[in-house]
Amino acid sequence: MLSTLTIATVVAFLALGLAIGNLRRSRRLKTRMTQHQESTEQQLQQLRSELERDAAALPERSETAPISERLQQELGAFQERLAQCQKEVADLRGEAQNLAVLPTWHPIRVKLAEELRPRLVPITDKLGPVLFPHQIAFDELDWMYKLPDRKFPYSLTFEEGMMMHYLVAANELKSGYEIATAFGFSSFFLATAFEKTGGHLISADAYIEEEMEHYIYDHATAQEHVEKLRQLHRDKQYDQLPRGLQFALEGAATLNIESVVDYEIACSPEGVPELLGDRTLDFAFIDGGHFGEQPVLDVKSVLPYLHPERFLMMFHDTQGEAVAKAVHFAAQATGIKPFSIHTRNRIVAVAKGIDPATLQTCREMTVRQAV
Ligand SMILES: C[S@@+](CC[C@H](N)C(=O)[O-])C[C@H]1O[C@@H](n2cnc3c(N)ncnc32)[C@H](O)[C@@H]1O
Repeated sequence: MLSTLTIATVVAFLALGLAIGNLRRSRRLKTRMTQHQESTEQQLQQLRSELERDAAALPERSETAPISERLQQELGAFQERLAQCQKEVADLRGEAQNLAVLPTWHPIRVKLAEELRPRLVPITDKLGPVLFPHQIAFDELDWMYKLPDRKFPYSLTFEEGMMMHYLVAANELKSGYEIATAFGFSSFFLATAFEKTGGHLISADAYIEEEMEHYIYDHATAQEHVEKLRQLHRDKQYDQLPRGLQFALEGAATLNIESVVDYEIACSPEGVPELLGDRTLDFAFIDGGHFGEQPVLDVKSVLPYLHPERFLMMFHDTQGEAVAKAVHFAAQATGIKPFSIHTRNRIVAVAKGIDPATLQTCREMTVRQAV
Protein backbone atom coordinates (compact mmCIF):
# COMPACT_ATOMS: atom_id res chain seq x y z
CA MET A 1 0.00 0.00 0.00
CA LEU A 2 2.80 2.30 1.15
CA SER A 3 4.94 1.51 -1.76
CA THR A 4 2.09 2.27 -4.24
CA LEU A 5 1.62 5.69 -2.61
CA THR A 6 5.34 6.34 -2.71
CA ILE A 7 5.56 5.42 -6.38
CA ALA A 8 2.58 7.64 -7.24
CA THR A 9 4.16 10.57 -5.40
CA VAL A 10 7.49 10.11 -7.16
CA VAL A 11 5.75 9.92 -10.57
CA ALA A 12 3.75 13.05 -9.76
CA PHE A 13 6.95 14.92 -8.84
CA LEU A 14 8.68 13.74 -11.95
CA ALA A 15 5.77 14.86 -14.17
CA LEU A 16 5.70 18.20 -12.42
CA GLY A 17 9.48 18.58 -12.96
CA LEU A 18 9.12 17.81 -16.66
CA ALA A 19 6.24 20.23 -17.07
CA ILE A 20 8.21 23.01 -15.36
CA GLY A 21 11.28 22.24 -17.58
CA ASN A 22 9.14 22.39 -20.74
CA LEU A 23 7.57 25.61 -19.63
CA ARG A 24 10.97 27.20 -19.07
CA ARG A 25 12.28 25.95 -22.45
CA SER A 26 9.25 27.28 -24.25
CA ARG A 27 9.66 30.66 -22.52
CA ARG A 28 13.34 30.80 -23.53
CA LEU A 29 12.39 29.93 -27.13
CA LYS A 30 9.67 32.57 -27.13
CA THR A 31 12.11 35.18 -25.82
CA ARG A 32 14.67 34.30 -28.49
CA MET A 33 12.02 34.46 -31.25
CA THR A 34 10.84 37.80 -29.95
CA GLN A 35 14.41 39.10 -29.92
CA HIS A 36 15.00 37.78 -33.43
CA GLN A 37 11.80 39.38 -34.69
CA GLU A 38 12.75 42.67 -33.10
CA SER A 39 16.22 42.63 -34.64
CA THR A 40 14.79 41.77 -38.10
CA GLU A 41 12.30 44.59 -37.80
CA GLN A 42 15.07 46.94 -36.81
CA GLN A 43 17.13 45.93 -39.86
CA LEU A 44 14.12 46.35 -42.11
CA GLN A 45 13.47 49.73 -40.64
CA GLN A 46 17.09 50.72 -41.23
CA LEU A 47 17.01 49.54 -44.87
CA ARG A 48 13.74 51.39 -45.44
CA SER A 49 15.17 54.63 -44.12
CA GLU A 50 18.37 54.20 -46.23
CA LEU A 51 16.23 53.62 -49.32
CA GLU A 52 14.16 56.70 -48.59
CA ARG A 53 17.31 58.77 -48.05
CA ASP A 54 18.82 57.54 -51.39
CA ALA A 55 15.56 58.13 -53.24
CA ALA A 56 15.47 61.64 -51.85
CA ALA A 57 19.03 62.23 -53.14
CA LEU A 58 18.05 61.26 -56.75
CA PRO A 59 17.27 64.21 -59.05
CA GLU A 60 13.68 64.64 -59.93
CA ARG A 61 12.63 62.82 -63.15
CA SER A 62 11.64 66.22 -64.41
CA GLU A 63 15.32 67.27 -64.03
CA THR A 64 16.88 64.28 -65.95
CA ALA A 65 14.32 64.20 -68.72
CA PRO A 66 15.55 67.37 -70.51
CA ILE A 67 19.18 66.05 -70.54
CA SER A 68 18.24 62.75 -72.16
CA GLU A 69 15.96 64.51 -74.66
CA ARG A 70 18.82 66.87 -75.64
CA LEU A 71 21.20 63.91 -76.08
CA GLN A 72 18.62 62.18 -78.27
CA GLN A 73 18.33 65.30 -80.44
CA GLU A 74 22.14 65.60 -80.79
CA LEU A 75 22.39 61.93 -81.74
CA GLY A 76 19.70 62.45 -84.36
CA ALA A 77 21.60 65.47 -85.78
CA PHE A 78 24.84 63.46 -85.91
CA GLN A 79 23.12 60.61 -87.73
CA GLU A 80 21.69 63.05 -90.25
CA ARG A 81 25.13 64.64 -90.83
CA LEU A 82 26.71 61.19 -91.23
CA ALA A 83 24.14 60.26 -93.88
CA GLN A 84 24.86 63.58 -95.70
CA CYS A 85 28.64 62.94 -95.59
CA GLN A 86 28.18 59.41 -96.93
CA LYS A 87 26.14 60.80 -99.80
CA GLU A 88 28.78 63.50 -100.51
CA VAL A 89 31.51 60.82 -100.62
CA ALA A 90 29.43 58.68 -102.99
CA ASP A 91 28.81 61.75 -105.22
CA LEU A 92 32.52 62.65 -105.27
CA ARG A 93 33.39 59.06 -106.14
CA GLY A 94 30.91 59.27 -109.02
CA GLU A 95 32.43 62.57 -110.22
CA ALA A 96 35.94 61.09 -110.07
CA GLN A 97 34.86 58.10 -112.09
CA ASN A 98 33.23 60.35 -114.70
CA LEU A 99 36.64 62.01 -115.14
CA ALA A 100 38.20 58.59 -115.61
CA VAL A 101 35.91 57.44 -118.45
CA LEU A 102 37.76 59.07 -121.35
CA PRO A 103 41.27 57.79 -120.42
CA THR A 104 39.90 54.36 -119.55
CA TRP A 105 39.04 53.90 -123.24
CA HIS A 106 42.32 55.29 -124.60
CA PRO A 107 43.22 52.70 -127.31
CA ILE A 108 46.85 52.34 -126.19
CA ARG A 109 45.75 51.81 -122.59
CA VAL A 110 43.17 49.23 -123.68
CA LYS A 111 45.79 47.39 -125.76
CA LEU A 112 48.34 47.41 -122.92
CA ALA A 113 45.74 46.14 -120.44
CA GLU A 114 44.61 43.39 -122.83
CA GLU A 115 48.20 42.23 -123.19
CA LEU A 116 49.57 42.62 -119.65
CA ARG A 117 46.64 41.81 -117.40
CA PRO A 118 46.26 38.17 -118.46
CA ARG A 119 50.04 37.73 -118.61
CA LEU A 120 50.44 38.96 -115.03
CA VAL A 121 47.48 37.07 -113.55
CA PRO A 122 49.77 34.37 -112.02
CA ILE A 123 51.60 37.24 -110.26
CA THR A 124 48.66 39.41 -109.14
CA ASP A 125 46.81 36.31 -107.92
CA LYS A 126 49.57 35.81 -105.33
CA LEU A 127 49.69 39.46 -104.16
CA GLY A 128 47.31 41.65 -102.20
CA PRO A 129 45.98 44.85 -103.83
CA VAL A 130 46.55 47.76 -101.44
CA LEU A 131 45.94 51.50 -100.96
CA PHE A 132 46.94 53.89 -98.19
CA PRO A 133 44.11 54.87 -95.78
CA HIS A 134 41.39 57.12 -97.27
CA GLN A 135 42.53 56.50 -100.87
CA ILE A 136 39.98 55.54 -103.52
CA ALA A 137 40.79 53.34 -106.53
CA PHE A 138 39.45 54.92 -109.74
CA ASP A 139 39.46 51.56 -111.51
CA GLU A 140 40.95 48.09 -111.16
CA LEU A 141 44.33 49.25 -112.58
CA ASP A 142 44.66 52.00 -109.96
CA TRP A 143 45.74 49.65 -107.12
CA MET A 144 49.21 49.11 -105.72
CA TYR A 145 50.26 45.63 -104.53
CA LYS A 146 52.14 44.07 -101.63
CA LEU A 147 53.12 40.62 -100.44
CA PRO A 148 50.14 39.25 -98.47
CA ASP A 149 52.24 38.39 -95.39
CA ARG A 150 54.32 41.62 -95.24
CA LYS A 151 53.25 45.15 -94.24
CA PHE A 152 55.72 46.82 -96.66
CA PRO A 153 56.93 47.52 -99.32
CA TYR A 154 54.15 48.64 -101.68
CA SER A 155 54.59 48.46 -105.48
CA LEU A 156 53.66 50.93 -108.19
CA THR A 157 50.09 50.65 -109.51
CA PHE A 158 49.24 48.36 -112.43
CA GLU A 159 48.55 51.50 -114.51
CA GLU A 160 52.00 52.92 -113.70
CA GLY A 161 53.58 49.57 -114.55
CA MET A 162 51.82 49.57 -117.95
CA MET A 163 53.21 53.05 -118.66
CA MET A 164 56.77 51.97 -117.80
CA HIS A 165 56.34 49.00 -120.11
CA TYR A 166 54.98 51.20 -122.89
CA LEU A 167 57.72 53.85 -122.62
CA VAL A 168 60.54 51.27 -122.72
CA ALA A 169 59.01 49.30 -125.61
CA ALA A 170 57.82 52.27 -127.70
CA ASN A 171 61.20 54.01 -127.40
CA GLU A 172 63.15 50.81 -128.11
CA LEU A 173 65.22 51.19 -124.94
CA LYS A 174 67.84 48.52 -124.35
CA SER A 175 69.70 48.93 -121.08
CA GLY A 176 67.81 49.52 -117.83
CA TYR A 177 68.50 49.83 -114.12
CA GLU A 178 65.94 50.05 -111.34
CA ILE A 179 66.31 50.89 -107.71
CA ALA A 180 64.49 49.06 -106.21
CA THR A 181 63.05 45.55 -106.74
CA ALA A 182 60.87 45.17 -103.58
CA PHE A 183 59.19 41.91 -104.71
CA GLY A 184 59.66 42.40 -108.45
CA PHE A 185 56.32 43.95 -109.47
CA SER A 186 57.78 46.95 -111.37
CA SER A 187 60.56 44.74 -112.77
CA PHE A 188 57.97 42.45 -114.39
CA PHE A 189 56.54 45.36 -116.45
CA LEU A 190 60.03 46.58 -117.37
CA ALA A 191 61.58 43.21 -118.17
CA THR A 192 58.63 42.16 -120.37
CA ALA A 193 59.26 45.39 -122.34
CA PHE A 194 63.04 44.76 -122.57
CA GLU A 195 62.14 41.27 -123.78
CA LYS A 196 60.47 43.00 -126.79
CA THR A 197 63.40 45.34 -127.46
CA GLY A 198 66.12 42.71 -126.93
CA GLY A 199 67.31 44.73 -123.94
CA HIS A 200 68.22 43.93 -120.32
CA LEU A 201 67.34 45.14 -116.82
CA ILE A 202 69.32 45.20 -113.57
CA SER A 203 67.03 45.44 -110.55
CA ALA A 204 68.63 45.97 -107.12
CA ASP A 205 67.37 46.18 -103.56
CA ALA A 206 68.70 46.21 -99.98
CA TYR A 207 65.43 44.49 -98.87
CA ILE A 208 65.44 46.78 -95.88
CA GLU A 209 61.76 47.78 -96.06
CA GLU A 210 60.70 44.16 -96.00
CA GLU A 211 63.03 43.54 -93.06
CA MET A 212 61.86 46.59 -91.03
CA GLU A 213 58.24 46.36 -92.31
CA HIS A 214 58.53 50.16 -92.59
CA TYR A 215 59.85 52.66 -95.13
CA ILE A 216 62.01 54.60 -92.67
CA TYR A 217 65.32 53.14 -91.43
CA ASP A 218 68.91 54.26 -91.09
CA HIS A 219 71.46 53.71 -93.79
CA ALA A 220 73.91 51.77 -91.58
CA THR A 221 71.17 49.22 -90.81
CA ALA A 222 70.47 48.84 -94.56
CA GLN A 223 74.20 48.29 -95.25
CA GLU A 224 74.51 45.67 -92.48
CA HIS A 225 71.41 43.92 -93.80
CA VAL A 226 72.89 43.76 -97.32
CA GLU A 227 76.13 42.24 -95.93
CA LYS A 228 74.13 39.60 -94.06
CA LEU A 229 72.03 38.75 -97.15
CA ARG A 230 75.07 38.51 -99.41
CA GLN A 231 76.67 36.07 -96.98
CA LEU A 232 73.48 33.96 -96.98
CA HIS A 233 73.60 34.00 -100.78
CA ARG A 234 77.29 32.94 -100.83
CA ASP A 235 76.41 30.13 -98.40
CA LYS A 236 73.57 29.09 -100.76
CA GLN A 237 71.02 29.50 -97.96
CA TYR A 238 68.45 30.50 -100.54
CA ASP A 239 65.43 29.73 -98.38
CA GLN A 240 66.64 32.40 -95.90
CA LEU A 241 66.79 35.15 -98.51
CA PRO A 242 64.10 37.88 -98.40
CA ARG A 243 60.61 36.85 -99.44
CA GLY A 244 60.62 39.74 -101.96
CA LEU A 245 63.69 38.41 -103.76
CA GLN A 246 62.27 34.89 -103.84
CA PHE A 247 58.97 36.22 -105.22
CA ALA A 248 60.83 38.24 -107.91
CA LEU A 249 62.86 35.18 -108.98
CA GLU A 250 59.78 32.93 -109.05
CA GLY A 251 57.81 35.59 -110.98
CA ALA A 252 60.55 36.03 -113.58
CA ALA A 253 60.57 32.24 -114.07
CA THR A 254 56.77 32.18 -114.44
CA LEU A 255 56.90 34.99 -117.01
CA ASN A 256 59.84 33.42 -118.82
CA ILE A 257 61.98 36.54 -118.55
CA GLU A 258 64.84 35.16 -116.43
CA SER A 259 67.41 35.96 -119.10
CA VAL A 260 66.16 39.56 -119.38
CA VAL A 261 66.44 40.61 -115.72
CA ASP A 262 69.13 40.26 -113.03
CA TYR A 263 68.12 40.70 -109.41
CA GLU A 264 70.92 42.01 -107.20
CA ILE A 265 71.25 42.49 -103.45
CA ALA A 266 72.86 45.92 -103.07
CA CYS A 267 72.71 49.16 -101.16
CA SER A 268 72.42 52.41 -103.10
CA PRO A 269 74.35 54.59 -103.67
CA GLU A 270 77.64 52.95 -102.68
CA GLY A 271 76.78 49.59 -104.32
CA VAL A 272 75.89 51.07 -107.72
CA PRO A 273 79.36 51.22 -109.40
CA GLU A 274 79.88 47.50 -108.74
CA LEU A 275 76.40 46.77 -110.17
CA LEU A 276 76.69 48.83 -113.33
CA GLY A 277 80.38 48.37 -114.15
CA ASP A 278 81.02 49.73 -117.63
CA ARG A 279 77.37 49.77 -118.73
CA THR A 280 75.67 52.69 -120.43
CA LEU A 281 72.04 53.05 -119.44
CA ASP A 282 69.21 54.40 -121.54
CA PHE A 283 66.64 53.76 -118.79
CA ALA A 284 66.69 54.26 -115.02
CA PHE A 285 63.82 53.94 -112.56
CA ILE A 286 64.29 55.72 -109.20
CA ASP A 287 62.03 54.08 -106.60
CA GLY A 288 64.30 53.15 -103.67
CA GLY A 289 64.50 54.96 -100.30
CA HIS A 290 61.96 57.79 -100.21
CA PHE A 291 63.20 60.02 -97.38
CA GLY A 292 66.04 62.39 -96.51
CA GLU A 293 68.79 62.68 -99.11
CA GLN A 294 68.42 59.08 -100.37
CA PRO A 295 66.57 59.84 -103.66
CA VAL A 296 69.12 62.56 -104.55
CA LEU A 297 71.94 60.12 -103.78
CA ASP A 298 70.24 57.49 -105.97
CA VAL A 299 70.12 59.99 -108.86
CA LYS A 300 73.77 61.02 -108.34
CA SER A 301 74.81 57.36 -108.42
CA VAL A 302 73.10 56.80 -111.80
CA LEU A 303 73.95 60.02 -113.67
CA PRO A 304 77.50 58.92 -114.75
CA TYR A 305 76.03 55.84 -116.46
CA LEU A 306 73.35 57.56 -118.56
CA HIS A 307 73.78 57.68 -122.32
CA PRO A 308 74.82 61.27 -123.17
CA GLU A 309 72.22 61.70 -125.93
CA ARG A 310 69.34 59.40 -125.16
CA PHE A 311 67.87 58.29 -121.85
CA LEU A 312 64.68 58.11 -119.86
CA MET A 313 64.90 58.54 -116.12
CA MET A 314 61.60 57.83 -114.33
CA PHE A 315 60.67 58.80 -110.76
CA HIS A 316 57.94 57.31 -108.58
CA ASP A 317 56.16 58.93 -105.60
CA THR A 318 57.06 62.49 -106.54
CA GLN A 319 54.27 63.77 -104.28
CA GLY A 320 56.81 63.20 -101.46
CA GLU A 321 59.25 66.00 -100.62
CA ALA A 322 62.46 63.93 -100.80
CA VAL A 323 61.64 62.49 -104.25
CA ALA A 324 60.47 65.89 -105.55
CA LYS A 325 63.89 67.30 -104.55
CA ALA A 326 65.58 64.47 -106.46
CA VAL A 327 63.54 65.25 -109.61
CA HIS A 328 64.68 68.87 -109.55
CA PHE A 329 68.24 67.79 -108.81
CA ALA A 330 68.18 65.53 -111.90
CA ALA A 331 66.59 68.30 -113.97
CA GLN A 332 69.29 70.78 -113.00
CA ALA A 333 72.12 68.28 -113.44
CA THR A 334 70.96 67.33 -116.97
CA GLY A 335 69.41 70.65 -118.04
CA ILE A 336 66.11 68.89 -118.83
CA LYS A 337 62.60 69.96 -117.84
CA PRO A 338 60.76 67.26 -115.87
CA PHE A 339 57.56 65.86 -117.39
CA SER A 340 54.96 64.87 -114.80
CA ILE A 341 52.22 62.30 -115.34
CA HIS A 342 49.45 62.51 -112.74
CA THR A 343 49.10 58.86 -111.85
CA ARG A 344 48.28 57.78 -108.29
CA ASN A 345 51.95 58.09 -107.29
CA ARG A 346 52.73 61.00 -109.62
CA ILE A 347 55.37 59.50 -111.89
CA VAL A 348 57.76 61.97 -113.51
CA ALA A 349 60.08 61.60 -116.50
CA VAL A 350 63.39 63.37 -117.01
CA ALA A 351 63.98 62.42 -120.62
CA LYS A 352 66.49 63.18 -123.35
CA GLY A 353 66.12 62.04 -126.98
CA ILE A 354 62.88 60.22 -126.12
CA ASP A 355 59.77 60.55 -128.32
CA PRO A 356 57.74 63.28 -126.54
CA ALA A 357 54.50 61.81 -127.99
CA THR A 358 55.00 58.66 -125.89
CA LEU A 359 55.16 60.74 -122.71
CA GLN A 360 52.11 62.75 -123.79
CA THR A 361 50.24 59.47 -124.41
CA CYS A 362 50.92 58.43 -120.80
CA ARG A 363 49.45 61.72 -119.61
CA GLU A 364 46.36 61.12 -121.71
CA MET A 365 45.78 57.58 -120.56
CA THR A 366 46.00 57.92 -116.78
CA VAL A 367 42.62 57.62 -115.09
CA ARG A 368 43.77 60.37 -112.74
CA GLN A 369 44.83 62.92 -115.36
CA ALA A 370 42.39 65.59 -114.21
CA VAL A 371 42.88 65.21 -110.46
C1 LIG B 1 58.67 51.35 -102.90
S1 LIG B 1 59.69 49.98 -102.82
C2 LIG B 1 60.02 49.62 -104.51
C3 LIG B 1 58.80 49.14 -105.24
C4 LIG B 1 59.08 48.53 -106.59
N1 LIG B 1 59.81 49.42 -107.45
C5 LIG B 1 57.76 48.19 -107.26
O1 LIG B 1 57.09 49.12 -107.73
O2 LIG B 1 57.38 47.02 -107.30
C6 LIG B 1 61.19 50.66 -102.24
C7 LIG B 1 62.32 49.63 -102.06
O3 LIG B 1 63.54 50.35 -101.92
C8 LIG B 1 64.40 49.59 -101.13
N2 LIG B 1 65.49 50.49 -100.64
C9 LIG B 1 65.36 51.52 -99.81
N3 LIG B 1 66.54 52.13 -99.60
C10 LIG B 1 67.45 51.44 -100.33
C11 LIG B 1 68.85 51.58 -100.55
N4 LIG B 1 69.55 52.57 -99.99
N5 LIG B 1 69.46 50.72 -101.38
C12 LIG B 1 68.75 49.73 -101.99
N6 LIG B 1 67.42 49.56 -101.82
C13 LIG B 1 66.79 50.40 -101.01
C14 LIG B 1 63.50 49.06 -100.04
O4 LIG B 1 64.05 47.91 -99.41
C15 LIG B 1 62.20 48.76 -100.81
O5 LIG B 1 62.13 47.41 -101.18
